Amino acid sequence: MLFSNVKTKWIKRALMMFLSFVLAIPAFAQTADGSSTNLEAILIVVLIFVLIVAILILIIGLYLVSIIKVILLEDRKKKALAEGKEFIPEDEKSWWTSLMSKATGAVPIEKEETVLLDHDYDGIHELDNHLPPWWKWLFYATIVWGFIYYLVYHVFDALPLMQEEYAIVMEDAKVAREAMMALEGNNIDENNVEFSDAADVLANGKAIYDRECVACHAPEGQGLIGPNFTDNYYIHGGSINDIFKTIKYGVPQKGMISWQSKLTPSDMRDVGSFIMTLRGKTPQNPPAPKGPEGEEYIPDNQNQTGEEPAEQPTEL
Ligand code: HEC
Repeated sequence: MLFSNVKTKWIKRALMMFLSFVLAIPAFAQTADGSSTNLEAILIVVLIFVLIVAILILIIGLYLVSIIKVILLEDRKKKALAEGKEFIPEDEKSWWTSLMSKATGAVPIEKEETVLLDHDYDGIHELDNHLPPWWKWLFYATIVWGFIYYLVYHVFDALPLMQEEYAIVMEDAKVAREAMMALEGNNIDENNVEFSDAADVLANGKAIYDRECVACHAPEGQGLIGPNFTDNYYIHGGSINDIFKTIKYGVPQKGMISWQSKLTPSDMRDVGSFIMTLRGKTPQNPPAPKGPEGEEYIPDNQNQTGEEPAEQPTEL
């Protein structure tokens, strides 16, 4: 009986370890500064630790079981010898077969009459089979899981519930969005965009134009599938605001895609500004410039760049 004592001691120890861990989760959570990433990191560490402990317990358990088996076998051998009998070991099933028979709890066909009920429906008999143990184990596991879930989410509040989780994610997204917007140039939209002839703006604009727009608007802006940028005629308006808007939202039904998912606002400002510098230029190479499309654009302040007048009349 010495061995079974050792075993229970081990199990007790493992249980204590697991319990102290479960109880330590909220303590961890409280020391964290409330940010979800910290909590997540702690949880992952805890889970990995629990997993490792569980695997260790399993290995030790299996080891102890095998030792106990050997001891018991020796014991029986000795007993048989003492009684002067020959020791015949019962044919041992493989661990897999014994596990399967334990899990299914199936009654072997030879012993079927032990579970046969005396119901007889025109020769059809009924067997009184129990629920398969594996199914019951699953059921018990859900109860254990439910208990752990209840403790973690409702007693210790160690983890946020669904709605809190949603709020946290939204809050994170808001912060990330604000950080993104705060980056220079990303708060530009069609209402506040301004033409810029700064060298770096136009250089970046040209690079984007050469990469993304040439295929449809031709290398010098002569127009190909899309309209000509070297004349004064525009389908959707020639101010920087209108051009920015066309680039941003596109005219998908006419073959001009929306660029807002591919270009940042400052990139769209840059390429829009670059397009405006093409106005009035005479293309040197083929293809021949496309004829005017849309209406002639006359800048409000007669500024060829199309910049809005410094003082805009306030709209009511
Ligand atoms: C797949 C072809 C295609 C590509 C690529 C393309 N466009 Fe266009 N674009 C068009 C077409 C077609 C139109 C005319 C839409 C219409 O008829 O309403 C147009 C119209 C425009 C207009 C409005 C012109 C006007 O007359 O009002 C602007 C500005 C513009 N494109 C800029 C760009 C920029 C900048 C790029 C690159 C980032 C680009 N386009 C890439 C096909 C394209």
